[in-house]
Amino acid sequence: MSLQDRLNELKATVLTQINTTDHLDHLNEIRVNTLGKKGPITEVLRGMKDISAEERPVIGAFANEIRDLLKDALELKKAELENLALNAQLAAEKIDVSLPGTDFEPGHAHVIQQIIEQLENQFLGMGYQIAEGPEVEEDKYNFEMMNLPKDHPARDMQDTFYITPEILMRTQTSPVQARTMEKHDFTQGALKMISPGRVYRRDTDDATHSHQFHQVEGLVIDKHITMADLKGTLLKVAQELFGEKHQIRLRPSYFPFTEPSVEVDVSWNDVDENTKPEDIEWIEVLGAGMVHPNVLKMAGVDPEVYGGFAFGLGPDRFAMLKYGVDDIRNFYLNDVRFLSQFK
Ligand code: PHE
Repeated sequence: MSLQDRLNELKATVLTQINTTDHLDHLNEIRVNTLGKKGPITEVLRGMKDISAEERPVIGAFANEIRDLLKDALELKKAELENLALNAQLAAEKIDVSLPGTDFEPGHAHVIQQIIEQLENQFLGMGYQIAEGPEVEEDKYNFEMMNLPKDHPARDMQDTFYITPEILMRTQTSPVQARTMEKHDFTQGALKMISPGRVYRRDTDDATHSHQFHQVEGLVIDKHITMADLKGTLLKVAQELFGEKHQIRLRPSYFPFTEPSVEVDVSWNDVDENTKPEDIEWIEVLGAGMVHPNVLKMAGVDPEVYGGFAFGLGPDRFAMLKYGVDDIRNFYLNDVRFLSQFK
């Protein structure tokens, strides 16, 4: 076979290979096999030494022509395959801008915190200040200044986490009463404060008890405060929180730091002038009373001049009543399925 024929044959074979491949890797293989140092074109050119001097430039030019032609064909095919690959990739990575986006789930205040904030807003609206006290408290404020000396039997009402004999986890927010009274300048007017916060008791956790829960303390001290002021205030708060048709009732009770002391019930059903007393369902929601003279005295307030009322309510219990939650532990398990109901 003449060199020309071999070159023509080579051209035909390689062009077929190029035309039938659809892989860039394969195309590259063809290129290397055809044009590389050990490829057929190089080999043909190597055979030039055996042909006549007249033929040599003709064959040489023809070989170069074939090589250039194949090079061009390879380039063209490469561009074509790259273009196909790019289009395929673009199609695969296409973004459908009309698809719904990923939902953000912004958090929200915990249901207990919501109740506390609602109470804060109500009391701020009635001219109260919001006071804070430490959760790690002195025995002195938690008990002694609340008229509960060391051996007082009523200390048993609140089983206590002691840290040292004088330092404890506060069992109630009542110590904030003593702390604010001590600091208050009565020449500037009445003291009206609420103090929300966490309290701790050595209780075994069950559906209605938690070793840690919340209280909102309330205290009003001025010159002419009566039990009617206490009742009016609590009625207003209960109606704001539970609804206009709810009533409250006071029952005599005992707390060492108030005298007289009351427990306050809220009606669970709606009440109007036609409701018979025996049809009202009462639920206990808080403790309250007129501040004991000893408590005033110990905080440096003259009980002959000043007096007032105090109350302590449990937002956990309020939340349970308001939303029909029957297990207090739900508030502390941090299960978002439970908590997100209260958005
Ligand atoms: N501190 C009382 C308790 O935890 C509640 C209370 C507060 C009662 C203020 C009367 C006055 O049980």
